[in-house]
Amino acid sequence: MADILSVEERRLALDAIADEIKVCTLCPLHTSRTHAVPGAGRVDAEIMFIGEGPGYHEDQQGLPFVGASGQYLNELLHMIGLKREDVFITNVVKCRPPNNRDPLPNELDTCIPTYLQRQVEVIQPKLIATLGRFSMALFFPGGRITKIHGQPRRGNGRIYYPLFHPAAVLRNPNLRPVMEEDFRRMMALAQEVAAQQSAAQSSSDPDDEPPPTPRQLSLF
Ligand code: URA
Repeated sequence: MADILSVEERRLALDAIADEIKVCTLCPLHTSRTHAVPGAGRVDAEIMFIGEGPGYHEDQQGLPFVGASGQYLNELLHMIGLKREDVFITNVVKCRPPNNRDPLPNELDTCIPTYLQRQVEVIQPKLIATLGRFSMALFFPGGRITKIHGQPRRGNGRIYYPLFHPAAVLRNPNLRPVMEEDFRRMMALAQEVAAQQSAAQSSSDPDDEPPPTPRQLSLF
């Protein structure tokens, strides 16, 4: 298990990764982008959302999920008592694929190990929620979202949680109650993990200093 990093260490490390992303020329997507979109949110977030790739509005603003899908994501977060600043939101690829086409294998194979994997290692989220099939495929290879949405998998000391992409729900409003239920269950799971870890912490050594990021736990 990686060392626990301080908030300041995480901020510096994530800023350094974001600086690399902003000038990245490792795959052809850099030629058509307006802005690369490294991701945004809390550097020590317990919950990290991973979408597919920036769309038009994200490319214009350099921020993830700021278009219609992002507004819906904000609503869902609000419903479970969270704000965007409480979580970290990013994408599998950091530059917009032209005309919102699917990212190509060479783009995924370049971007994921170079940036996404490092962001996960720095943030050390307790729960990774996937939004859409490209991020789902990373953690649930061969999974079909209609079958596995809302079904957590544990690994690497965290929970992986597959969600529909917000754009899919906007296209098919019948999925709204399902998406809302999945969000509520995700929050309950995250609260459970936080409670277990805080119980383990207090029973391990009562004289220990409090954990380095106690504010995180108050989220839940
Ligand atoms: N869709 C995504 O997958 N990511 C974004 O940032 C915006 C829309």
